[in-house]
Amino acid sequence: MFTPPFSSDAMFHRKSLLPVINPDKAGNPLKHPAAKAPRIFADSATRSEIEPLFRAGIVNGITTNPTLLKKAGAKSWTEAKAIMKDLCALLNPHPVSLELTELAEDAMVRQASELSELGGNSIIKVPIGGYRAVNPAADPYTGLKVIRRLWERGIKVNTTLIFNTTQALWAANAGATYVSPFLGRLADYGYKHDLPERTPGNSLYWVEDHKNSKGDQVMHNSEYVASGGALKDAGARLIFEIATVFANYQITTEILAASFRNPVQLTECLLAGADILTVPAAVLATVADHPLSDEGMKAFAEDSKAFGK
Ligand code: E4P
Repeated sequence: MFTPPFSSDAMFHRKSLLPVINPDKAGNPLKHPAAKAPRIFADSATRSEIEPLFRAGIVNGITTNPTLLKKAGAKSWTEAKAIMKDLCALLNPHPVSLELTELAEDAMVRQASELSELGGNSIIKVPIGGYRAVNPAADPYTGLKVIRRLWERGIKVNTTLIFNTTQALWAANAGATYVSPFLGRLADYGYKHDLPERTPGNSLYWVEDHKNSKGDQVMHNSEYVASGGALKDAGARLIFEIATVFANYQITTEILAASFRNPVQLTECLLAGADILTVPAAVLATVADHPLSDEGMKAFAEDSKAFGK
């Protein structure tokens, strides 16, 4: 379990520069107790997953990507755009990240304009790098150049596929409104290659063990601790590094932690200083659960019968 050092004054100051997430309501004498809470987004392109979460006030933003759009049923660019447009309308005015699929600078800028027209709340998702992995002749600075050009046009960018701190800093420097570090994929990588891990903390949580990459293994805290730390926390440490660097330089690009596999990673990111968490519906469904909550509720429900409830 990631355990950060104390938050610095610089971190607190940077937070004070970020938007209020839960404003007070006129006429309500209770001030909202979590005005500066982190925002929670749904990491999904499937309306049936997102709508109940949005209506319940659990999420106030969405992140999509080509994989999630495919999962939502898109079989053509026209269908993908229809899904993205529908999601923008559903969430308006809250942010909805829409990812570019073009790979060349000018085409990406043109596609950004096309996606921006799908909704005034659209955020253009630009991969930071990887362009040469798809086309060895590609310009390695493609993403950074596109981010800069979109900033000049007043278009908000979410820089995606962030795996180290320099990627985050360069994206912010280019003008990105958000950076998305993928902590779950870093953990997956750690498991796959069986990399050494840090000593875990002793949190009482359920965690999913992705060691066998099936996503179907669940283990309890005691197993987690006994295992010597079967939770790879490189992703949380990455969030902390980015949060520290952004605080040191008063960068207000928001840190949108992504690629979650389990609720422990949510806690780690909050400790590390993330500004926003984008979470799959399946993980969100677990955030209010705990084995001791189950046990406690069963006892309360049983004892309520004593007075006819
Ligand atoms: C973030 O914006 C991405 O859509 C997402 O978190 C990727 O997560 P994955 O690693 O589960 O694909």
